[in-house]
Amino acid sequence: MMEFSLLGFILLIWRTSADVPKAEDLHWTSLDFSTVLTWRTSPSQHTYTVLYSEVGSDWLESPDCIEVSEGECDLTMQLQPLDRVYTADVKTEPAADEEHLVDIDELPHTYSPPFNPYEESNLSAPSFSLRVLDRLQVSVNVSDPLTAIHNQNRQLTIRDVLQNQLLYRVSYSRAGSTGKKELLSNSSSLVVSGLDSGESYCFIVAAFVPTRARTNQLGLWSHQRCIAIPGPETGLTVGGLVGVIFIVLTVIIVFIVIFVLCCRKKNKRQPANQTTSDPV
Ligand SMILES: *[C@@H]1O[C@H](CO)[C@@H](O)[C@H](O)[C@H]1NC(C)=O
Ligand SMILES: *[C@@H]1O[C@H](CO)[C@@H](O)[C@H](O)[C@H]1NC(C)=O
Repeated sequence: MMEFSLLGFILLIWRTSADVPKAEDLHWTSLDFSTVLTWRTSPSQHTYTVLYSEVGSDWLESPDCIEVSEGECDLTMQLQPLDRVYTADVKTEPAADEEHLVDIDELPHTYSPPFNPYEESNLSAPSFSLRVLDRLQVSVNVSDPLTAIHNQNRQLTIRDVLQNQLLYRVSYSRAGSTGKKELLSNSSSLVVSGLDSGESYCFIVAAFVPTRARTNQLGLWSHQRCIAIPGPETGLTVGGLVGVIFIVLTVIIVFIVIFVLCCRKKNKRQPANQTTSDPV
């Protein structure tokens, strides 16, 4: 009897200390205010429950992350309002066969680093369109990336969230040249001027939040888009081409008219010869 309970005690100590995994390497990943907490798990029968708290407030259970076995928890809907500092706590839950054995308070848990979605969420690469305004200017129209956050059934964009804190950084260069120019815009549609006519320009765009800490200011750069600015009218422009076609057509028509007139004269002369020779 004594031996049995000692064995049970040793087993309990062994299981709680060595066998019960602790969530490790807690890491926040956040893009356009969709925020996921990840952690490293060890293969075991144990599950994890995630608690979160606005710094200085009570701990709440994340409803979607109770006794989960994978090492990830989407906290997008819990970390609101966005502009607050949150901490998460990942608790290891007892395995099904040891619920009666283990003192819940003895189970390991790990705190996450603090996280502020408004200040730290990465911003995705925006898509944009280009339009030639005239021989010196191009308009750039950026689509504000969408977030996973809704307000009264409307899906919010990063501009709805960041409002006037959101700028776009536009970097452009003449095709084939390495010299880059940059400009900042507080609007999603802007005009780039001072371009050279007859040249092609390539643009990339990224969201930029100057009020954030330096490492979080710049979003991901977009794909590059290029556009050709029309040059002054030469034989190669559309206008020039129309002119050339017009001249060529005129010349052809003149030749046809001359040819037709010549043939008519010949045809008129031949019957005249015949009639004069008939009486002979
Ligand atoms: C933001 O992106 C950088 C670079 O990819 C990455 O190192 C960082 O962990 C990301 N931060 C978040 C909060 O997702
Ligand atoms: C920008 O593009 C969107 C569609 O992507 C369009 O609805 C909007 O009118 C455009 N804005 C400007 C200023 O061209």
